[in-house]
Amino acid sequence: PSSRVSLTVNGERHIVTVDNRTSLLDLLREHLDLTGSKKGCNAGACGACTVLVDGRRVNSCLILAVRLEGAEVTTVEGLARGERLHPLQQAFIDQDAFQCGYCTPGQIMSGVGCIEEGHTGSADEIRESMSGNLCRCGCYVKIVRAVEQASG
Ligand code: FES
Repeated sequence: PSSRVSLTVNGERHIVTVDNRTSLLDLLREHLDLTGSKKGCNAGACGACTVLVDGRRVNSCLILAVRLEGAEVTTVEGLARGERLHPLQQAFIDQDAFQCGYCTPGQIMSGVGCIEEGHTGSADEIRESMSGNLCRCGCYVKIVRAVEQASG
């Protein structure tokens, strides 16, 4: 069975009909062509799919799209303002906070949430707040520095 869901993604209203088992991640990637959010584990363990739903960080692979009627979703594609990068995107470049880049959209969305929630008092607090986002290249030190830069 499928359902119709109406939601806002990066400020744009969408009405889509999806199979009831469709995750938010698959809705973004396969129905809306927003492929910035990555599918790593598809099981809530890696954070590569992190987006904001009504301002809160979620693993989009774990949420059913049909549960999001009326929700406001922000993905990595929604952060920049024209040519101007979000301060945390710029900080990732300045701090060289990635290698392969696969986890980066999720790291950045989680970092935005971390900053907005005010969990930036220390490097340890940032690390704890972002512990759900794995980086197989091991760029954690630089990722924390990027969040510090953007929050300072
Ligand atoms: Fe969603 Fe890994 S793909 S947490």
